[in-house]
Amino acid sequence: MQPASAVVGLIVVAAGSGSRLGADVPKAFVPLAGVPLLGHALRGALACPDVAEVVVVSPTGWLGEADAVCRWARSRSCEPSSGAPVRVVPGGAERGDSVAAGLAALSDRVGVVLVHDAARCLTPASVFGRVVAAIRGGAAAVVPGVPVVDTIKQVDSAGRVVATPERSSLRAVQTPQGFRRDVLERAHAESSEATDDAGLVERLGESVLVVEGDPRALKVTTPADLEAAARILAG
Ligand code: CTP
Ligand code: MG
Repeated sequence: MQPASAVVGLIVVAAGSGSRLGADVPKAFVPLAGVPLLGHALRGALACPDVAEVVVVSPTGWLGEADAVCRWARSRSCEPSSGAPVRVVPGGAERGDSVAAGLAALSDRVGVVLVHDAARCLTPASVFGRVVAAIRGGAAAVVPGVPVVDTIKQVDSAGRVVATPERSSLRAVQTPQGFRRDVLERAHAESSEATDDAGLVERLGESVLVVEGDPRALKVTTPADLEAAARILAG
């Protein structure tokens, strides 16, 4: 167990190519209202005063650009966390590899780790705050989530419905996801193959708590999502 006062480190994974967005630069560098998605993501994260250290995981070949975006975001923040050390490291082939690269780059003093997708670039600082508060309250793993509006069907490989889970029990989960560092390191030592880090922690048998997410934490995946993000910013 780590103390509730443990230092919070943030890993922002930004090393993906953004193939579904289809831009001519990696997704983290695609502009939204003139600012790269990574810049928006860092601005939100640095507005959370709990964040004491940041590692940005960048596409190989874009480390200099990522560093420039970090400097810009810090210069635009007046929160205490704007003074947090920010490092840029190269990512890996899969998202899990990039998270592992970020974990390896955190300093020893970090006891609580937040993992955040740069693609969820408009996530408000309040979501970071709720995740940190739940970890400080004793949870080992915390994810923000929102109720789902669609009815979800589970299907087999032939497309036949096998189950209709009760909608009120479902949540669409977002990032930042927060973990006690020892728990996340143990989960990554077992495997890094999952669509989110909480999935790895669940496999350890650890319980994962869901706190309230935010519709603004949508993940920019397609051009339509980029338009939706632009509308959120404008509104
Ligand atoms: N990511 C990463 N390293 C990878 C793959 C993904 O750091 N090898 C990051 C992305 O930069 C993004 C987050 O993980 O911030 C969520 O991934 P996703 O939305 O799938 O982004 P991409 O993999 O870039 O997009 P696509 O799957 O369309 O190529
Ligand atoms: Mg991807």
